[in-house]
Amino acid sequence: MDIKQTVREGYAKAAQETDGCAGTPSETVGYGEADLAAVPEGTPSFGCGNPTAIAGLQTGETVLDLGSGAGFDCFLAAPAVGSTGRVIGVDMTPEMIDKARKNAAQAGHDNVEFRLGDIENLPIESGSVDAVISNCVINLAPDKGKVFAEAFRVLRPGGRMHVSDLVLGQEPPEWLFEDDAALIGCVGGALPRDEYLALIAAAGFTGVTVNAEHDATAWLNGYLEQGAEGGSECECGCCGTACSLPDGLVASLTITAHKPAA
Ligand SMILES: C[S@@+](CC[C@H](N)C(=O)[O-])C[C@H]1O[C@@H](n2cnc3c(N)ncnc32)[C@H](O)[C@@H]1O
Repeated sequence: MDIKQTVREGYAKAAQETDGCAGTPSETVGYGEADLAAVPEGTPSFGCGNPTAIAGLQTGETVLDLGSGAGFDCFLAAPAVGSTGRVIGVDMTPEMIDKARKNAAQAGHDNVEFRLGDIENLPIESGSVDAVISNCVINLAPDKGKVFAEAFRVLRPGGRMHVSDLVLGQEPPEWLFEDDAALIGCVGGALPRDEYLALIAAAGFTGVTVNAEHDATAWLNGYLEQGAEGGSECECGCCGTACSLPDGLVASLTITAHKPAA
């Protein structure tokens, strides 16, 4: 099946459930109690970091969340930009957009909107955004260079991008590229760390900085074992422990980058 279709189906299913991208409780990826209390009840996080925490959002700013899922990070950004600001979440999975819109309505967030769209071809005007955020999404896109080019296009000159995502710290086992659970779990499509950072710079961003980095292998193993027991297409011989990823294989990075001022 087409990569995007596999990802879309995986997240349509996840929208009905409460577990995160790789089964990670939100607290362990950098959300504090205040963050968790600020989002509407029943909004799951599918993230692997907390890019909003370092975004330095100001009243009146326009924020774009690439792959907004159920809206978790948008709901953190909404009070920071206030009623004169705007938060736009873009996601390609209709079930996620529905869930996010319901969560926004329930919480009365009228400065947040969700648009159905592909982050490789953003439904957003050029030069209209102050800050792009994204949490554990770009690894899922087949053309990551295009995503960064689109983020660069929609930012105003002097705007910034804050991204949390999974990258590879070493050569992965072959089966990882064939396994749908690994793809949906944000590791099957992940790039080597340096390649990922180089793509951001190649899109025109400057000051590309890794703000936080932690090993994510253990919780991904937990997710993959669950997936295998649930009947994933695990091709590694004996599912379960045989699917385990080697220590140090996957890292979660939180990155800041800037679009130069004109
Ligand atoms: C791991 S979840 C992260 C959701 C959210 N950022 C969070 O932290 O809760 C990945 C999300 O990215 C969306 N997604 C994946 N590829 C996409 C693409 N090419 N364009 C738009 N959305 C995409 C999926 O539909 C899913 O909702």
